[in-house]
Amino acid sequence: MKTLIKGGTIITASDTYEADLLIADDRIALMGADLPAEDAKVVDATGKMITPGGIDVHTHLELPFFGTVSSDDFYTGQKAAAFGGTTTHIDFVIQAKGESLHQAIENWHKKAGSKSAANYGFHVAITDLTDEVMDEIPSIADEGVTSLKLFMAYKGVFQVDDTTLFKSLMKAAEAGMITMVHAENGDVLDVLIKENVSTGNLATAYHAYSHPAWAEAEATMRAVALAGIAGAPLYVVHMTCEESVDQLRYGRERGLPVMGETCPQYLFFTVDNLCQSDGAKYVCSPPVRVEKDNEYLWNALAAGHLQAVSTDHCPFMYEGTKPIEYEGEQYQMAGKELGQGDFSKIPNGMHGIEDRMLVLWTYGVGKGRISPNKFVELTATNPAKIFGMYPSKGVVAVGADADLVIWDTEATKVISWKNMHTRTDHNVYEGWELIGLPERVYVRGQLLVHGETWNGEPGGGSYVRRSTHAQIV
Ligand code: URP
Ligand code: ZN
Ligand code: ZN
Repeated sequence: MKTLIKGGTIITASDTYEADLLIADDRIALMGADLPAEDAKVVDATGKMITPGGIDVHTHLELPFFGTVSSDDFYTGQKAAAFGGTTTHIDFVIQAKGESLHQAIENWHKKAGSKSAANYGFHVAITDLTDEVMDEIPSIADEGVTSLKLFMAYKGVFQVDDTTLFKSLMKAAEAGMITMVHAENGDVLDVLIKENVSTGNLATAYHAYSHPAWAEAEATMRAVALAGIAGAPLYVVHMTCEESVDQLRYGRERGLPVMGETCPQYLFFTVDNLCQSDGAKYVCSPPVRVEKDNEYLWNALAAGHLQAVSTDHCPFMYEGTKPIEYEGEQYQMAGKELGQGDFSKIPNGMHGIEDRMLVLWTYGVGKGRISPNKFVELTATNPAKIFGMYPSKGVVAVGADADLVIWDTEATKVISWKNMHTRTDHNVYEGWELIGLPERVYVRGQLLVHGETWNGEPGGGSYVRRSTHAQIV
């Protein structure tokens, strides 16, 4: 099957130019001026922009958490992703206590395989580092899982100690793998949460007051320093504030192979949102901060102090007592209402997989905060490079996978949870105006999204095996 996309403007992380592009099966076969149509289906992209499909390296689909389960599964989450211009995501496998990493990965394959409609890969989060698990680490790279994750927070649930973090960093580096951290000092958070709960400070905003910026900064510096000692690559997930990004910069300026991401919620929202009557929708960890941090993060992205924007997509229902309809079927799952009257019980997590590229384009590129090339770098190219998928993914180039988005930069839409595809009952960007939307989204050469039409199906997706010894950017 061949598709010839004619006359579009190609945007990569480094260049902007006009070219025709021939897709043959699942790859980009040819690029150039005035390519002949021959037996290809022709798509006119004159006046349109073509980017690589977005890559979201931080998602939690169907994750059991806070006594419930995140509300998107591998089908609904990937459908939502595709409508938002994201064609590949990497989800976190969570090792249960006593479980081998291979078993944990197998469990996630079972969840994903029959539902997936787009491209997906896995990181594995270690929660129980036994000697057997240490020995197992290099072998999971053979399964295409080339990144580990350690939680420095969620005491008693996922949190690991420094011994575990340091040993994992060393072992991962030896195997050419990268280590990721959720950097917050979980011991400090545990004290603050318990203190607030016991003194009756239960309002939603106390979620933020119990997760101070310095707890994030301390853990970030600790992880950066441990990575420095181990000589290991490190990627700090969901960075929210000046205090922590400064620690990452400190390490980078001294030549350490450390990198970091932020997420859209930290660019747009603040503790004021937690103070709203629907503040639970904005509860995630680390928390949304203050306006100066929003600005700081935009500048850090533009200046290259942060390397990627992912989502930490972990949606929950807002009113999980009421069912919603999704693709003609009823869906109901407990959600944010579990924390009514007690901030510490609100499921931590927000949606974003569908919104990320859309809000970054309109409110990042559209407002002059980042260039179109930076947009591509942060949402696709750097994620592909850092996590061992480049140059098959993250770039528009001959030989790359045909994961592509054709954007109509003049199309408009007002976000409402009702016109989005994430399986939940709200959207934190409700009412936001978008200018510039994906018109066609190709996943390995298949036209998955065309305007409002969805051509994907459960089981049509593809597992991405990632390489070791990926790039430091
Ligand atoms: O609140 C969040 N971020 N939920 C998902 C789990 C995590 O910490 O990434
Ligand atoms: Zn986290
Ligand atoms: Zn996360």
